[in-house]
Amino acid sequence: PVRLLLDVDPGHDDALAILTAAGLPGVEIAGITTVGGNQTLEKVTRNALAVATVAGLEGVVVAAGCDRPLVSGAVLTDSETHGASGLDGPVLPEPTVALDPRHGVDVIVETVMAAEPGTLTLVPTGPLTNVAAAVRREPAIAGRVAEVVLMGGGYTKGNVTPAAEFNIYTDPEAAHIVFTAPWRVTMVGLDLTHQALATPEVRERFAGMGTRAGDFVVDMLDFFGPAYLAKQGFASPPVHDVCALVRAVVPDIVRVRPGHVDVELHGQHTRGMTVTDLRGREGRDLDHLVATDLDVPRFWDLVTGAVARLP
Ligand code: BDR
Ligand code: CA
Repeated sequence: PVRLLLDVDPGHDDALAILTAAGLPGVEIAGITTVGGNQTLEKVTRNALAVATVAGLEGVVVAAGCDRPLVSGAVLTDSETHGASGLDGPVLPEPTVALDPRHGVDVIVETVMAAEPGTLTLVPTGPLTNVAAAVRREPAIAGRVAEVVLMGGGYTKGNVTPAAEFNIYTDPEAAHIVFTAPWRVTMVGLDLTHQALATPEVRERFAGMGTRAGDFVVDMLDFFGPAYLAKQGFASPPVHDVCALVRAVVPDIVRVRPGHVDVELHGQHTRGMTVTDLRGREGRDLDHLVATDLDVPRFWDLVTGAVARLP
């Protein structure tokens, strides 16, 4: 099985990533940690517990991590895209999954250190605050995880600013720590995730399931779609975070190229930009992987197939 530790800020696309992970055969969720991002830590943690409940993840550790970026003030939040709750649209069930009392950063460190080396993949789909704090707290986790497959950044564009993507822009210092730690990072950024559009046809596939999880996704898309149209001008919304999850589980659905990513920390117009070298002509090691192309039909078959397996 593929063992995953999900670090999330749900968030509609984070929620769909959790549901997909829960429904995919051969995936074991070793834990879910939350981080302030799309909404406050309190709200995204409540959402994570509700989504874990819909996914039937009783017994899976869910723990709350950091509530704000390492350096840059308060969490940004994005109510326009994700609503006041962070997950507007569906009616959230009372969670039957309990919150683990440990800090999310401790859960990341303890879970990685308890796993056999090379058997656990970290999938961060929010700001990188928890992951950065964890690798500072216990640098040995860098040598023990199989890899880090994150949603964030992009090599040609941003979404909060022309240069920077939300997860990286929220906590650029944390992103810098994650991209410079000695582990393999795969950046699943906007260039890739803008190919994963939840079209009306995709929505119909969820609607046709006639299950609680299928209906939950439809209710999410019916908020997220119009919100994405209003804020970013997309006819159909991109489900960013699901792309990182899928890359971690079925790598060949997401094509990658070797590259080197530096996070811009000081630029007046470019703070939070993931400056990506795909050429390697000035002596940088192309030590990261950068996602470029999505196999769209296989992606949606996998995601809808996974959600269809849930109650
Ligand atoms: C990222 O920001 C959030 O709005 C989404 O959940 C995703 O992780 C996309 O820029
Ligand atoms: Ca997210």
